[in-house]
Amino acid sequence: MASSSIIFSLLFLFFFSLSSAQPSFRPKALLLPVTKDKSTLQYTTVINQRTPHVAASVVFDLGGRNLWVDCDKDYVSTTYRSPRCNSAVCSRTGSTACGTCFSPPSPGCSNNTCSLMPDNSVTGTATSGEVATDVVSIQSTDGRNPGRAVKIPNLIFGCGATFLLEGLAPGTVGMAGMGRHNIGLPSQFAAAFSFNRKFAVCLTSGRGVAFFGNVPYILLPGILISRLKTTPLLINPVSTASAYSEGEKSTEYFIGVTDIKVLEKSISFNQTLLKIDATIGVGGTKISTVDPYTVMETSIFNGLTSAFVGAAALRNITRVSSVKPFGACFSSRNVYKTRVGYSVPDIQLVLQNNDIVWRILGANSMVTVSPDVICLGFVDGGVNARTSVVIGGLQLEDNLVEFDLASNRLGFSNTLLGLQTSCANFNFTSTSTTSTARYVL
Ligand SMILES: *[C@@H]1O[C@H](CO)[C@@H](O)[C@H](O)[C@H]1NC(C)=O
Ligand SMILES: *[C@@H]1O[C@H](CO)[C@@H](O)[C@H](O)[C@H]1NC(C)=O
Ligand SMILES: *[C@@H]1O[C@H](CO)[C@@H](O)[C@H](O)[C@H]1NC(C)=O
Ligand SMILES: *[C@@H]1O[C@H](CO)[C@@H](O)[C@H](O)[C@H]1NC(C)=O
Repeated sequence: MASSSIIFSLLFLFFFSLSSAQPSFRPKALLLPVTKDKSTLQYTTVINQRTPHVAASVVFDLGGRNLWVDCDKDYVSTTYRSPRCNSAVCSRTGSTACGTCFSPPSPGCSNNTCSLMPDNSVTGTATSGEVATDVVSIQSTDGRNPGRAVKIPNLIFGCGATFLLEGLAPGTVGMAGMGRHNIGLPSQFAAAFSFNRKFAVCLTSGRGVAFFGNVPYILLPGILISRLKTTPLLINPVSTASAYSEGEKSTEYFIGVTDIKVLEKSISFNQTLLKIDATIGVGGTKISTVDPYTVMETSIFNGLTSAFVGAAALRNITRVSSVKPFGACFSSRNVYKTRVGYSVPDIQLVLQNNDIVWRILGANSMVTVSPDVICLGFVDGGVNARTSVVIGGLQLEDNLVEFDLASNRLGFSNTLLGLQTSCANFNFTSTSTTSTARYVL
C-alpha cells in the first residue's frame, strides 16, 4: 500500500513536471510581430516581460545594442533583478561601470550594480541606466505559424528613464535593440535556446514579423521565401550610438554598396563615401529601422534625385513642387500602378558584384503624399552625414532581410510583392495547444 502510493506520487510528479513542461520544449525559432506606427513611421514590437506579466510595447531598433525600457514609471515585477558589479551578467554587457543610487531602492535604482547607456536612436539621446534582468515570454515558431510561448527567466536589458521615451511611438516604453552585441536580443534568444545566431526581419506598412533562429520562412498562401541574395555584413569599428565608450564597435549592420544606379545607369558621386573610414567610423551603408526613409549624404542624394527626375521625364512623368522632407515629387496621373507599386524608374543598390543587387521598385521608392502627388522616398542626410547611406523603413518593407551573425552575412529577398505575397502575410494563428491535458493523470 505504502509503496504503491509512493509510486503513484512519483508518477504524479513525473507527469506533473511533463505537463508544466516548458523546460523540455526547446524551440527551433522564435518570433515577434513588428507593426508600423502610422504617426511616427516607427516599427514597434511587444515584449512580454515581468511578473505579473506586462505586454511592453517597444520600438524595434535593428541596430540597437540591447533592449531598454523605462524603469521609472510603472515598472512592477517580483522577478526584477539587478546583477552585482563584476558578475558574469555585467561582464556580458561589457559594462565596467559600477553604480550607487541615492534614491529609495526600486527597479532602476540599486546599489552595487553595473550600468549601460540606454540609447534613444530616434532622437540621438542616451542616458546612464542600470543593467537588469527579468523574465520574458516569447512565442516560438516553425516559420509558418506561432507555436507555444517559451520563457527566458533572466533576459538582460537596460533601465531607461521616462524622459528618454520622448520622440518614440505613442504607447511605447522603450526600444528593442537587435544589434550585433552579446546582449542584443538576437544573441540572447540564440543563447537561451542554443539555436543559430540568425534572425530575419520582414517589415510592412501594417503588421510584419521578425524570426529568430533557423526555420524556413513561410508566408501565406504557403510561399517559402528562399534563395535570398547574400552579401557580407561589415563591421564598423567605431560605435555609431548616441553615447559609447572608447574602442566600442558599432552594433549596427553595415553592407558594402559599391554602386547606385537608376535604370541601369550609375549615378556619379565620390566613391570614397561608400567606404567605412575605420579610424573615425564615418561613411559606408547601414540598415536602420528608425529612419522611415533612406537617408543619403548630400552629393549622393543629389545624384540620385537628378538621375531619377531625368529618367521619370523620359517616361512623361510630370514633376511637381517638392513636399518636405522629399526632394522630388511627381503627379501620379500618368503613372501606372502595378503589383510592385508605381511604375517608375527602378533604383539599384549594387553590392559586391553586378549580380547582387538590392532592387528598389515603385512600392519601395514612392510615397503618396496627396491623392495626386507621389514623392521619391529618400531624404538628404547633409554633407556631414556620419553614415553615407542609411537604408530606411520604406525601402525595407516587403523585402525579407536575414542577418546571420555567425557567418556574417546578410540575405535579402527583394520585393515579395512580385511573388504574390508580402510581409503582412505571416499567418499569426497560433498552432499551440493551450491545454496539456494528455499528460494529466
Ligand atoms: C546605496 O548606498 C548608499 C550609501 O551607502 C545609500 O545612501 C543608499 O541609500 C543606497 N541606495 C540603495 C538604493 O540601496
Ligand atoms: C573623395 O572624398 C575623399 C574623402 O572625403 C577625399 O579625400 C577625396 O579627395 C575625394 N575625391 C574626389 C575625387 O573628390
Ligand atoms: C511622351 O509624350 C510624348 C508627347 O506627348 C509622346 O510623343 C511620347 O511617346 C511619350 N513617351 C512615353 C514614353 O510615353
Ligand atoms: C493559418 O494557420 C491556421 C493554423 O495552422 C490554419 O488553420 C489556417 O487555415 C491558416 N490560414 C490560412 C489563411 O491559410
